[in-house]
Amino acid sequence: MNYKKDFPIFKNNPNLIFLDSAASSQKPLKVLEDVKYFCENNYANVHRGAYSLSLQSTESIETARTDIAKFFGTQAKNLVFTKNATESSNIFISGIVQHIQSEHIEILMPVSEHHSSLLPALAHTKNPQNLSKITVKYIYPNASGIFTEDDFEKNITKNTQLIICAHISNVTGQIFDIKKISNIIKNKQNIYKNNIYFAVDASQSAPHVQINFDALSKISCDAMFITGHKIGAGGIGALLLSDTMSRILPQYSVGGGIVKDVHEQEYSLLESPTRFEAGTPSIENIVGFQSAIKYLENITFKKIQHHEEKLMKYALEQFAKKIPHFIIIGDKNITKNRSSLISFYHKNIHHSDIAILLAEKNIAVRAGMHCANPLHHYLHSKGTVRASFWIYNDISDIDALISGLQEIEQMFQ
Ligand SMILES: Cc1ncc(COP(=O)(O)O)c(C=O)c1O
Repeated sequence: MNYKKDFPIFKNNPNLIFLDSAASSQKPLKVLEDVKYFCENNYANVHRGAYSLSLQSTESIETARTDIAKFFGTQAKNLVFTKNATESSNIFISGIVQHIQSEHIEILMPVSEHHSSLLPALAHTKNPQNLSKITVKYIYPNASGIFTEDDFEKNITKNTQLIICAHISNVTGQIFDIKKISNIIKNKQNIYKNNIYFAVDASQSAPHVQINFDALSKISCDAMFITGHKIGAGGIGALLLSDTMSRILPQYSVGGGIVKDVHEQEYSLLESPTRFEAGTPSIENIVGFQSAIKYLENITFKKIQHHEEKLMKYALEQFAKKIPHFIIIGDKNITKNRSSLISFYHKNIHHSDIAILLAEKNIAVRAGMHCANPLHHYLHSKGTVRASFWIYNDISDIDALISGLQEIEQMFQ
């Protein structure tokens, strides 16, 4: 498999070793071409004009909605276009907290959640206008940063009304068994006879694994957060909502493009998904999003996973054999619950120094707490370096990383 040739960034930067796809992935030529073609031939504002270009543009984004929804195992009516996963989680969390009418709302999540889910929840605990008492409770990992799904079962109480979990941790690469968690939630709902809403942050999983939102929501899943820039698109995200959520989730923002009618003192809104998309959408990026998922569909997730497993197996072996003083957090072995990223640290070398020295060798990685500070605080970690792999990476990229790290270690001896 040589997918590097599909990505112009590598042709234009021939020495680049790009190991930061978990932050944002590179864009295939096909996506860039499709967006350019659309802008040059079909672009106009949508849902507004009677002229043919506007009608074409509207049709393009609605066809894209259908295709993208299908890619994630759901239907167009369940897919709201957003700016990114952060906007998706804000819309959902603020809506659901308004919707739940109870004295005490307990929100439960692994302590590894990305700030994009954690902060919208935490912000509600600080909001004096909330009528309910809102608390955020965390699930903790073992000393290596690995979580157990059974801990969801142990931590759900009669006050738990909202659970948020990333499908894949952007720090450890752990793949959470979201089907198992959905089943646990369903059982607990039956025991406590109340609603426990469940949202999955699929930002890190969408580029790597097949998602079937409807199958999950049939068990117990109300929403999913997706961001386009990690799967080869840009400036676009999605919020997937179950049928019930589409109906009951309170409004997040209002404005043009979402109304049935407006009078001086009254207004009425269209149905979901339109009612969550106030203002002009990111039209050309929706087209790019459609193109990105088509690109991945053509490759197939089977091939993507096979390729990534091979890379991860090799990378983990090389870490153990050649650079044992770089300590990996999360699972050190290749397992079915391990996605294609490695976060690590060295006791004697600061993570930022490692990233800067790698950058001098044209190796792009990320250093810091990866927008998951509470996990790092819990593990007493000041930060890690994260190397993440996608379809365009190959064994030579890993060799470059390993020899770069060997040289850095020697410099500090
Ligand atoms: C697990 C996870 N969730 C959410 C996000 C937020 O995505 P965005 O910044 O596109 O909103 C990220 C981004 O790094 C992430 O890794």
